[in-house]
Amino acid sequence: MKRVGILGLGEYLPQRILGNAELEKMVDTTDEWITSRTGIKERHLVSKLEAASDLAIKAAQEALKDAKIKAEDLELIIVATITPDMQFPATACFLQAGLNAKKAVCFDISAACSGFIYGLDIARQFIAQGSYKNALVVGTEVMSSVTDWQDRGTCVLFGDGAGAAVLGEVKLGGILSTYLGSDGTKADLIKCPGGGSRFPASSDTIKERLHYLKMEGNEVFKLAVNIMANAASEAVKAAGLTLADIDLVVPHQANMRIIMALGKKLNLPEKKIYLNIERCGNMSSASVATALCEAVKEGRVKKNDIILLDSFGAGLVWGAAIIKW
Ligand code: ACO
Repeated sequence: MKRVGILGLGEYLPQRILGNAELEKMVDTTDEWITSRTGIKERHLVSKLEAASDLAIKAAQEALKDAKIKAEDLELIIVATITPDMQFPATACFLQAGLNAKKAVCFDISAACSGFIYGLDIARQFIAQGSYKNALVVGTEVMSSVTDWQDRGTCVLFGDGAGAAVLGEVKLGGILSTYLGSDGTKADLIKCPGGGSRFPASSDTIKERLHYLKMEGNEVFKLAVNIMANAASEAVKAAGLTLADIDLVVPHQANMRIIMALGKKLNLPEKKIYLNIERCGNMSSASVATALCEAVKEGRVKKNDIILLDSFGAGLVWGAAIIKW
């Protein structure tokens, strides 16, 4: 089996920024409530012309440049998204066309906030066993397209963006381990019920606001810390390391309180945790991808550092990965 690592990273955040003050004018909320309960101050939102693949193209172009790989040499494209351009075809195919990556095999995965880590693990296995030489994995979300702007319990949480990674064979380090898990018995806790085959789009589904994200935030909150802590411990163990070996945690950015409780449980100080939640909110599959890209750009990751990626989201699905940089 070949050793697989990240060769390049990229991100794209749409230009428009929606701050908490503006949200105060839209729903019955306050900057104080949003900041103290979530840690979010602002989030990026797409323009009317932008869909998930448009964000993905920009993030992928940056990642390809960083990896010094040409789009035409890409062999695999995996897009992780719960807000695809369309029900079908796959957003990965729109991305392929946008990049002119003619050779690549393309498909989407739906693993919500854990999509980027699921994508990394899938790509890693294809490359490790020699099926493909390289892969592009993109987490891209237009969460604003499924946000109910009348629901103060959810509309303050989400943002739009994309993060991308190019993977290939490495001589040293790379992805040391992954740990994935799912629990479909809790699927009702976070869902977007309308527009699929269960409730096809109709005037009734629109009237009932079924095309928007529904979340039992409090129930999710109670599960998140334990599940993410367990995923982290399992991934660390699988890599033959201990939690003390971790130099930086890049967690899913759903809620500052969840992230801080996770740090406490894992006994990892705040300075070892990378955060972009304050500026970006929860961007589902794009959160870990963009946070990792920013951490590297900001010099928070040095050669040989041990990085923990850790996430949790709708499904429920969770995942962790240990990467030696
Ligand atoms: N402004 C003011 N008050 C609000 C707001 C708001 N924006 N939203 C809710 N409230 C009120 C509620 O109505 C409630 O009022 P009540 O006590 O009078 O009934 C009170 O605040 C407390 O509400 P809770 O829902 O209990 O608040 P909580 O502290 O749990 O915070 C939150 C809510 C932020 C959603 C939190 O539960 C959370 O972050 N959950 C986890 C989310 C998550 O991790 N999701 C996974 C990824 S998402 C994905 O996969 C797509």
